[in-house]
Amino acid sequence: MKTTFPLSELQQTLLRWWRRDGRILPWRQKQHTTQSQLPSQQLAADATLLEVRDHAFAEYLAPHLHRDPYRVVVAELMLQQTQVDRVLPKYLAWMKRWPTTSELAQTPLAEVLIFWQGLGYNRRARFLWLLAQQIEERSGKWPQTEEELLKLPGIGKYTARAIMSFAFGLQVAVVDTNVKRVLRRLAEGKEAAAAPIPSEKEWFAFADSVLPADQADPWNQLIMDFGALVCTAKAPRCENCPARRYCLAQKEAVQAGYQTYREYLAVQLRSQEKSQKKMIRFENTDRYFRGRIMDILRQGPVTHLLLAERMEKEFGLSDQSRLMKLVQKLSEEKLITVSNLTLKLG
Ligand code: ADE
Repeated sequence: MKTTFPLSELQQTLLRWWRRDGRILPWRQKQHTTQSQLPSQQLAADATLLEVRDHAFAEYLAPHLHRDPYRVVVAELMLQQTQVDRVLPKYLAWMKRWPTTSELAQTPLAEVLIFWQGLGYNRRARFLWLLAQQIEERSGKWPQTEEELLKLPGIGKYTARAIMSFAFGLQVAVVDTNVKRVLRRLAEGKEAAAAPIPSEKEWFAFADSVLPADQADPWNQLIMDFGALVCTAKAPRCENCPARRYCLAQKEAVQAGYQTYREYLAVQLRSQEKSQKKMIRFENTDRYFRGRIMDILRQGPVTHLLLAERMEKEFGLSDQSRLMKLVQKLSEEKLITVSNLTLKLG
């Protein structure tokens, strides 16, 4: 992939947009490296929204402040499969309860799994718990390279790079599905979704190549905000898009007779919907039933028999061999323990 637009103009335009319209999120907060220093600028109690915003963004952009990698990793793991709105209260509650890896490492896994209720994909809770043990074993010192970070539990390339850029200030791009969508529309145009999918290696190389010098941290955050607020998956807000004049998808949509790429996409999506077969209901997926088993166990240990009865009565799962397979998988993933026909968390 390559860019067809003046890159530094686009970078500056988006960085400006982000300062004005980006999201203020708790995991973006920074701290002084040493606890003894006072924050450089205290906000007055009667500050206006604009002042609050300015203060937050000045902090996000301050190179002498840093982010605790633990706070970054908790947020990123929560955000991997869960929407920002649902993560927000859980993230704040988590940080209050386990402000550092030390408190988390001393907590029984079952307690952490109970806390995780509502977020789904419970393996993430166990990964964070395991990660806290490992960081404590290293006396609180975090690995600094991508290769070493990847050895930590639950850390893939995306999260490793998020830690490197958000916590260590290194010049690496984060790439997830939202980032890919934004970059593909900008650089590959309206048929990007149908073009051959770049390999992960190509993706990282391309995303790294469009980073503005020394600004990987704000750039990565702004691309996420841009993907969530403007360049959304199904109905992008092309009419008010700050990058509109650089975007190949928009340019090609206009050439094809549409006013915006949004309009073009709406037509495409409508014709796709018509041809799509009936979707599988979420309430009949393994993921749904796994979640319900975990919910039952959050109330306390149960016998196999009682679990089978409740799963059938409350959630309509009557297939016993399917239930056994799900239980076995949860046990293999060490999210639950099975002993003497009794199942419990952790
Ligand atoms: N989604 C994944 N990581 C995120 C982050 N750091 N901020 C906002 N949304 C995200």
